[in-house]
Amino acid sequence: MESQSEGQPKRKKDPSVGLNPELYAGRGQTFAKHVLLKQYLTELAFKVLQARNAPSEFLYLDAFSGPWQAHGEAFEDTSFAIALRLLTEVRETLAASGRFPRMRAIFIEEKKASYERLRQEIKKFPRINVEAFHGRFEDVVPQVAGILNRDTFLFGFLDPIGWKGIALRRIAPLLRHRPGEVLVNVMANSLVRHATFEGVQESVDEFFGDSEWRAELAEAQTRLGSREAAIIELYLRRLKAVGGFTYVGSTRIRNPDKDRTYFYLAYGTRHHAGMEVFRRSEKRCIEVQERVALDSFRAKQERDFGMADLFKGQPDAGLDAFKQWRDAARAEARAQFEEWLSVGNARRADHLRAELMQHPHTDATLVNGWVREAEKAGRMTRSGETDSARMWHPIAAVTRD
Ligand SMILES: C[S@@+](CC[C@H](N)C(=O)[O-])C[C@H]1O[C@@H](n2cnc3c(N)ncnc32)[C@H](O)[C@@H]1O
Repeated sequence: MESQSEGQPKRKKDPSVGLNPELYAGRGQTFAKHVLLKQYLTELAFKVLQARNAPSEFLYLDAFSGPWQAHGEAFEDTSFAIALRLLTEVRETLAASGRFPRMRAIFIEEKKASYERLRQEIKKFPRINVEAFHGRFEDVVPQVAGILNRDTFLFGFLDPIGWKGIALRRIAPLLRHRPGEVLVNVMANSLVRHATFEGVQESVDEFFGDSEWRAELAEAQTRLGSREAAIIELYLRRLKAVGGFTYVGSTRIRNPDKDRTYFYLAYGTRHHAGMEVFRRSEKRCIEVQERVALDSFRAKQERDFGMADLFKGQPDAGLDAFKQWRDAARAEARAQFEEWLSVGNARRADHLRAELMQHPHTDATLVNGWVREAEKAGRMTRSGETDSARMWHPIAAVTRD
């Protein structure tokens, strides 16, 4: 996979990536989730399948597929139909340029009625090799793992309703598959409230992969000053270790009506370019969420106070929440970059950039800007012509050596 070259010009695109916002009325968080999924999966599929050593098979696994709370007549607002439509488009585009990878999708759904619906609907996508399983994801893991081979690129989308059903150890055979990546919906809110309740200890142990998480959570909570931030940090750390990922990161999906988190989408990859695409997709997803939150706020204002009193009368539901989260996350990424400038060693540019992009809201353009600034200030130098050969050298380290 090629990485975005430093200083590439920005293109303004439709942030809703062709999804219909009207189908998501009152479900802005689902809209945001689908925007990110669609944007990310499209770019990923093209990158993976157009690479020099492209795998012969691309497998999309939707482990909690639904349909669930769908409003669109053609299920346009469900992850399974969004993915099947886009995989069909990717397949056609690649075929036009003489590439014919096997496009495959596996869906798992526990609820019988939803599964039956799913089974009917997937027949409408004959260009993709689709299979639907009726059952619990964790029980189906060995079967799915059995069909993977080294030429299968696996993208797993795990979208459970709470924290149950994705026991880290049980799903590890899929997380560990190479080449592969994962996107997991982490309901940090419910964990914040319930993680330490006596009745759920076993399921929380399963979620984190062992029973050692309590001390780690306490330490992270003290350090970060937030239980929610500690939970997501802990989960990412464990996802990375159990899945053997090189880079992990998350993006926060907000409640459109309140200054609060709805859930996080946690991501694991072994490729630096994956991190870059993830952050690019995050940007689109945030634009959409900001728009949905503003629309929802305005509609409420109009309802309660009339047009004349727009922006008066009630709290603004945290319209600038992303700005605050963004500033805080970028400050952490910047501190890590500063530390590298002061005490780090020469690093491959694409690897260090991806490490920094593990912080939310930190994309390639931002990091490349810091690099240019540091270079101008005589704090680092660059060598190498291409992205894969480019090295970044902190001056402090050179002097020290
Ligand atoms: C959040 S919904 C999925 C929404 C869907 N991914 C989308 O974005 O359109 C979760 C789905 O998983 C199903 N489910 C719940 N527990 C499950 C399990 N253990 N294994 C598989 N499916 C499960 C539910 O019936 C529900 O349809």
